[in-house]
Amino acid sequence: MSAASDRLALVIGASRGLGLVLVDELARRGWQVIATTRQPGGQLRVDASVEVESLEMTSPEQVAALRSRLAGRRLDLLFVNAAIDRGDLPIDQVPTGMFTEVMITNALSPLRAVEALRDLVVPGGTVAVMSSEQGSISLNTGGGYELYKASKAALNQLMRSYATRHAHDGHTKLLIDPGHNQTELGGPDAPLNPSESIPAVVDVLEAQAGAPGLQFLDRHGKSVPW
Ligand SMILES: NC(=O)c1ccc[n+]([C@@H]2O[C@H](COP(=O)([O-])OP(=O)(O)OC[C@H]3O[C@@H](n4cnc5c(N)ncnc54)[C@H](OP(=O)(O)O)[C@@H]3O)[C@@H](O)[C@H]2O)c1
Repeated sequence: MSAASDRLALVIGASRGLGLVLVDELARRGWQVIATTRQPGGQLRVDASVEVESLEMTSPEQVAALRSRLAGRRLDLLFVNAAIDRGDLPIDQVPTGMFTEVMITNALSPLRAVEALRDLVVPGGTVAVMSSEQGSISLNTGGGYELYKASKAALNQLMRSYATRHAHDGHTKLLIDPGHNQTELGGPDAPLNPSESIPAVVDVLEAQAGAPGLQFLDRHGKSVPW
């Protein structure tokens, strides 16, 4: 990995919540960051180390346009953070449109973005996607949030296929479980604040730089069971 001030990250989904704090934390540690949002303005602090790009992640056309705009840039870290949650319905009560919206946003689109942008990542660089313990099949003993859990399990499975397909590309591949955080998605009663958990996540990203294969890790760097 490059010297601290030369390192470049692309964070997809940085308008608020964990993505917003991730951009701030990377910049605080000396990274250059390209951060994507869907709407202009918002809370993202733009300065010499943070530039903003527009991206609706579910649009393949917009992903391709972003790839063109970034031609010639060399990423040390590609981090796909964006996802949605549509509440806690039992699966038989989930409307078909809601099912496809969540699956397209949380599972298909992150992998499309990763495939489209991976050639910008330097050898030895990292491709990371924000997953969740909720995506663990073996830990799913408590019930609830069936669609969201299924979407993160699908994300994990697709990332495993991706990792197999690109096993020899020299990229570190990570699925990250940030813990349950106070955000719009996590709700106000979550036990963690992103200002505590995201520095730990960045510690994991930095510690794993150069590691081979795909790992599903929590914010302490411990493996999460599939
Ligand atoms: N919070 C938790 O407890 C928790 C726990 C485990 C995992 N996670 C994961 O952590 C990640 C961030 O979650 P969060 O809690 O920070 O959620 P959040 O506060 O709801 O923020 C979600 C972010 O994703 C963006 N986004 C959603 N759909 C998008 C799309 N189609 N195209 C582009 N951007 C899109 C949102 O942009 P807009 O502002 O434009 O909507 C926003 O920036 C997600 O992958 C989530 O599943 C969260």
